[in-house]
Amino acid sequence: MATRPQRIAILTSGGDAPGMNAAIRASTLIARAAGVEVLGIERGWRGLLEDAFVPLATPDVQGILREGGTILGSARCKEFHEREVRDRARAILRDRGVEGLVVIGGNGSLAGAQALADPAEAGERPPLVVGVPASIDNDLGLTGLAIGVDTAMNTIVEACDKIADTATAHDRTFIIEVMGRDCGYLAMTSAIAAGADLALFPEAGRDQASVVESIVDTVIAVRARPRKSRRVIVVKAEGVQVPVEQLKTAVDARLRERVPDADPAAIETRVTVLGHVVRGGRPSAFDRLLGSRLANVAVRALVAGQSHKMAAWMPAVELPEEVGTRSPYDPYCWLVDLGAALVETENLLRGRSPLARWRAGVFEDIEDALLL
Ligand code: F6P
Repeated sequence: MATRPQRIAILTSGGDAPGMNAAIRASTLIARAAGVEVLGIERGWRGLLEDAFVPLATPDVQGILREGGTILGSARCKEFHEREVRDRARAILRDRGVEGLVVIGGNGSLAGAQALADPAEAGERPPLVVGVPASIDNDLGLTGLAIGVDTAMNTIVEACDKIADTATAHDRTFIIEVMGRDCGYLAMTSAIAAGADLALFPEAGRDQASVVESIVDTVIAVRARPRKSRRVIVVKAEGVQVPVEQLKTAVDARLRERVPDADPAAIETRVTVLGHVVRGGRPSAFDRLLGSRLANVAVRALVAGQSHKMAAWMPAVELPEEVGTRSPYDPYCWLVDLGAALVETENLLRGRSPLARWRAGVFEDIEDALLL
């Protein structure tokens, strides 16, 4: 029989994502409605090691869902990979009487939760853990979306639309770099939504020469079109391992070779790196809703005494029952095994999952058509 926790804590860890506050708010409200005491942990795993607990009650979370970032703060904490550091974390949780933990974050944060609650190292009565996927990169397996992706995509599309205005006015080529360390999802989806001419993402596995050639092919094809449609927007994921300035220099040199009659100043590319702009800002309505719904499902499982679970938004694959079940609390959400989600995340990042192959394949199929 599962033991229901009396006191739980919530933390946000790793790269912040718009919508995390909605998840903190919903976690607090759902747990308190179930009669469970709630604490917040500031600055993720690092804050846990520093015993940085704060009480969380309804007034603390009122109105926070419209704020970007996370009211609890976040941090990256490499030490959490070490067993003795996790022993310390478990001892602090025991001293505080915290029996369950809601971990809102990405791959590294959820892997930390899995290790913290591993019965092989935690002994009897390990802390109960549930994960809420949050990462603007959408680089987590077994969930169709993570918190923050929608807002980040909207930010990128807005920036591309603005850049497209000046690009169109000058018939220019822009390379716009967006976040996505290991995963090109943001570059792919925002390229589609912004009507870009080319998307560059790490899953394609292209070397520099091939990336340069595809940009140059696109520029030449677009420049053959009537005026007013000669601008080129290339969305490049950060995970494509060619620094943008180096890419610009190589593309400009190749353009001079392949279009010797053009005025070099007129065909020279421009570069914009959106960087951390992509991760900030007020969460979209969808991210507020997604954060609330995923937290609802995760926390209901936790207060019922479940552990090693992750709430998921419509996994894009069929799941066998031992991997995940549809949540009885939300027909769009699933409760999946946390370990299985981490394995599938690894597959996604290594390009081994059918989903990663499908995503890359779609772009291969349409790339030639875009040049017509
Ligand atoms: O949150 C993931 C991510 O946005 C990656 O796309 C990016 O490479 C990384 O965070 C940047 O992290 P930091 O803010 O720690 O430099």
